[in-house]
Amino acid sequence: MPFPITRLRRLRATPTLREMVRETQLDPRDLIYPLFAVHGEAVRRPVSSMPGVYQLSVDQLVREAQECHALGIPAVILFGVPAHKDAQGSENFSDDGIVQRAVRALKAALPQLIVIADLCMCEYTDHGHCGIVRDGQIDNDATLEILGRAAVSYARAGADIVAPSGMMDGMVASIRSALDEAGFANVSILSYAIKYASAFYGPFREAAEGAPKFGDRKTHQMDPANAREALRELELDIQEGADMVMVKPALSYLDIVHRVRQATHLPVAAYNVSGEYAMVKAAAANGWLDERAIVLEVLTSIKRAGADLILTYHAKDAARWLAGM
Ligand code: PBG
Repeated sequence: MPFPITRLRRLRATPTLREMVRETQLDPRDLIYPLFAVHGEAVRRPVSSMPGVYQLSVDQLVREAQECHALGIPAVILFGVPAHKDAQGSENFSDDGIVQRAVRALKAALPQLIVIADLCMCEYTDHGHCGIVRDGQIDNDATLEILGRAAVSYARAGADIVAPSGMMDGMVASIRSALDEAGFANVSILSYAIKYASAFYGPFREAAEGAPKFGDRKTHQMDPANAREALRELELDIQEGADMVMVKPALSYLDIVHRVRQATHLPVAAYNVSGEYAMVKAAAANGWLDERAIVLEVLTSIKRAGADLILTYHAKDAARWLAGM
């Protein structure tokens, strides 16, 4: 029925009516909070390009996770800044590594909190690349073995989920078999299945100290111009045994989130990355945007596009705002 029989404004007339017909509900249970673990004690080092985000020693990280838990955020994802970097990224697969220590402390303090360990080599290698470098190139297959070892080490520390983010071909299958052979059949894999070579990761590279020393990540991360290829990445990761898949970044890739949502029954996560966070914080600090309204709108749009889970540095603020605090 056309106007004047149909008037869409009728259902927008009051806050209660709008709530009754709202299609997308954001909830703190949708959120995953990223944390950056560093060695030392009582360390709380601000990341200048990400106001409100800190590199945290394990004691501080536990406090932060307790805050998340109290706000109803079910999970955190850990990134590690190692004491020492080398060509293989040895601290990544050392049971004494910074992430392994952080996982043990978190699971001891908060057994119900879901602990996700990001799994990549770039923070651990002296060259800052996501794999073993041979003759200036990333050796895909040599990298897989190391990723398997790191996954097993994280699982041994108590991680519930490992999240490979290095975009190596075959990474999910080799991590799955390494975990299963080591007796960790119940540890899940959240694959960064669809990760673009994006300039939006800039601030993260300061936070995790993982910028490449030469070259870029375009030989393994996806070309931002491609959408069909995202579905090929998705299919492969499903076949290899991913339990959940991620699209990253989120905001410039909501079309991809939507396509992935339609193409799979797996849970879909989207990463509201560091550059997306930095833009909002910078505009808010200048008084150019209303931070609270923008953050809730951004996160709602990611969920509306089809994400079940959102990794976001805004998680604590958003959870507070959703609770009316
Ligand atoms: C790689 C990794 C990166 C991010 C998450 N995992 C950086 C990269 O690929 O260069 C980016 C996250 C963000 O920008 O918030 N370990």
